[in-house]
Amino acid sequence: ELKENTVIVVLGASGDLAKKKTYRNQFLPKDIRIVGYARTKMDHDEYIRRIKSYIKTPTKDTEQQLEEFLGICTYVSGQYDRDESFQQLNKHLEELESGRKEANRLFYMALPPVGIARVIVEKPFGKDLASSRELQKSLEPDWKEEELFRIDHYLGKEMVKNILILRFGNSFLGATWNRHHIDNVQITFKEPFGTEGRGGYFDEFGIIRDVMQNHLLQVLTLLAMERPVSFSSEDIRDEKVRVLRAIPAIEPKDVIIGQYGRSLDGSKPAYKEDDTVPKDSRCPTFCALVAFIKNERWDGVPFIMKAGKALNEQKTEIRVQFKDVTSGIFKDIPRNELVMRIQPNESVYIKMNSKLPGLTMQTVVTELDLTYRRRFSDLKIPEAYESLILDCLKGDHSNFVRDDELDASWRIFTPLLHYLDDNKEIIPMEYPYGSRGPAVLDDFTSSYGYKFSDAAGYQWPTTSAL
Ligand code: BG6
Repeated sequence: ELKENTVIVVLGASGDLAKKKTYRNQFLPKDIRIVGYARTKMDHDEYIRRIKSYIKTPTKDTEQQLEEFLGICTYVSGQYDRDESFQQLNKHLEELESGRKEANRLFYMALPPVGIARVIVEKPFGKDLASSRELQKSLEPDWKEEELFRIDHYLGKEMVKNILILRFGNSFLGATWNRHHIDNVQITFKEPFGTEGRGGYFDEFGIIRDVMQNHLLQVLTLLAMERPVSFSSEDIRDEKVRVLRAIPAIEPKDVIIGQYGRSLDGSKPAYKEDDTVPKDSRCPTFCALVAFIKNERWDGVPFIMKAGKALNEQKTEIRVQFKDVTSGIFKDIPRNELVMRIQPNESVYIKMNSKLPGLTMQTVVTELDLTYRRRFSDLKIPEAYESLILDCLKGDHSNFVRDDELDASWRIFTPLLHYLDDNKEIIPMEYPYGSRGPAVLDDFTSSYGYKFSDAAGYQWPTTSAL
């Protein structure tokens, strides 16, 4: 509906669009006023002179009609980024509107592209492949891919950002980073608290959608991708997409799910005791699953992802377990492991066998240890969101999720998610709040080749030892 008593404000009135597309016609509603606004400084007469020269006047037009049209045009010059300028524009509009019974305004933004528009989108990016594509479609008319920043805050974590440097900046790691030397990889996410009031959201999504399809898969992707041609965002993301496409959909036989019950001492409630959770919920709060990568580097190497709420500790880490040492001179010597501790207490350490100092040839498990608090004690590690929002301001997409990457990641998880949603007889295994997860967990991980060794009671010296 075309409103009477409207002031049309043309922002960018001195620009090209105004120059080429300024029309005058008699269809304009009554009492219309047209206010041009732009940065160019010019007075009223100069503005009118310009409009006159731009106007596409049908030959029959009389001089008088043209004069009438010019009589409704005014101009205000100002900046696009200053409050004072817009206050001045507003004052001008109010003067024009005074005495009118209603004041309608229409803003036409014909602005030069000095203003950059960017939008950060948070997860959930849909619930499966189809809904993610739908969401993407709804953004497409308004936002170009280069204006979109799909955030996965794990990509802003210091240790996650270190993965590519560690892998590609150290030739000894690069040389062993394949199925000939690595037996299995574990990516573990543990939280010591339950859904606590957030059950409404969580029950719709579950742990797989909440942290695995996004955060843990991102970590896996960085661990498994090939060397990018450069560190530019598109080169990195091209390689990420390529490795994701080599991962077949996760099969239900490679998955266990759990849901927390009450803590053993009864002090912590079960998941289903949360008021925001349906009493018959089958929502997994724990999951361990295995992804395989069908390419030359990784064929046959299980990537075990584990994630759970209400567990015994807070910890997110990557554990790369190398193959056994060739048998012969050693018996039962533990495997090497490279551990990247994402949080808390960022660190990278390698478990390695060494001679116990002294007169014997006894071996002992030791560690090459890079603990950030010790090594980088005076550096501040930025919060993930701090780092990512700054990247967005700089227009750097390296640590944001590209459209085709999102698609590829949902393709890996969607069949499993539908299988779990649709099969009502699949009930998650209960584990006590505060435990390590479902009792079958250790058997599950060892069935994929992970060898736990408590040789010499090895324990990595944690923060308390610092
Ligand atoms: C969020 C999940 O994306 O990540 C939460 O929705 C989870 O369930 C959180 O707790 C974990 O993030 P962080 O940075 O605390 O490890």
